[in-house]
Amino acid sequence: MERIAVVTGASSGIGEAIARRLARDGWRCVLVARREDRLRALADEIGAEIELCDVGDRTAVEALAERVLERHPAIHLLVNNAGMPARGTFLSVDLDLVEEVMRVNYLGSVWCSRGFQPGLEAAARVGGAHIVNLVSVAGTVSFAPAGAYAASKHAQLAYSRSLGAALRDSGIQVHSILPGFVETEGFPQKKVLRSRLLRSFVIEADDVAVTVVKAMEKGKSECVVPWFPYRFVGIAQAIAPGLVARFVGMSAHRGESV
Ligand SMILES: NC(=O)c1ccc[n+]([C@@H]2O[C@H](COP(=O)([O-])OP(=O)(O)OC[C@H]3O[C@@H](n4cnc5c(N)ncnc54)[C@H](OP(=O)(O)O)[C@@H]3O)[C@@H](O)[C@H]2O)c1
Repeated sequence: MERIAVVTGASSGIGEAIARRLARDGWRCVLVARREDRLRALADEIGAEIELCDVGDRTAVEALAERVLERHPAIHLLVNNAGMPARGTFLSVDLDLVEEVMRVNYLGSVWCSRGFQPGLEAAARVGGAHIVNLVSVAGTVSFAPAGAYAASKHAQLAYSRSLGAALRDSGIQVHSILPGFVETEGFPQKKVLRSRLLRSFVIEADDVAVTVVKAMEKGKSECVVPWFPYRFVGIAQAIAPGLVARFVGMSAHRGESV
């Protein structure tokens, strides 16, 4: 039986790496993003389908789900990966950006999960389904130099954990993936991070893709990648939030324009 995966934000970075791994493992992928040329090139290479959609637009997501479910009534995997940065502190960040990053990073995941729910339930009835949410360590750490981004990821993590609890025993497993710094187009970490120490922890998009596949195979609900040092930073914020916010703020981005 063909397994169907919908991967949002598949036109670059982590989403592209996940789609490549899934295709290698025999999945039929539906690649979602806004840049048609990039999606088409990847789809031709890995034998996938493409769908253009702005996940920050609720009506567009509903139409996307309708189109895909007509072709594929059962969806075995939804990867909510589409996301964007929002650099700058809450003192200076453009307020339109604050709204946009919430729509794309948080609400986009909520809308996709609801839109594809009938397809995920159909797959759950005949063997099981997965929702993978690409959150971030910024979902557990208030990162002042990208405050609105961290807020969107805190919201996305709360949604992901709540959904996982709501779907317990439903046959649909929810996996929250929390990467640290990953070198991608939208997040050129080696260029923007000021601290040499933080730059030394930057990983590649494929490292995250490997974690996604393992999380599904092992039924893990939450994965921090890499585990060291980020797991400790999340714990430290829970114990001493002020101290951690100050340290991270000092060691973060070179400037708000990058
Ligand atoms: N890189 C990191 O350090 C890092 C760390 C932790 C978590 N993450 C998370 O990982 C995810 C992927 O990021 P990435 O690092 O791979 O960045 P990236 O290379 O910039 O990729 C972002 C992807 O999201 C898509 N996208 C952005 N806005 C969209 C929208 N409104 N509608 C549909 N698609 C949209 C982009 O495609 P189009 O522009 O073609 O639409 C692109 O495919 C994000 O959720 C990010 O927050 C990244």
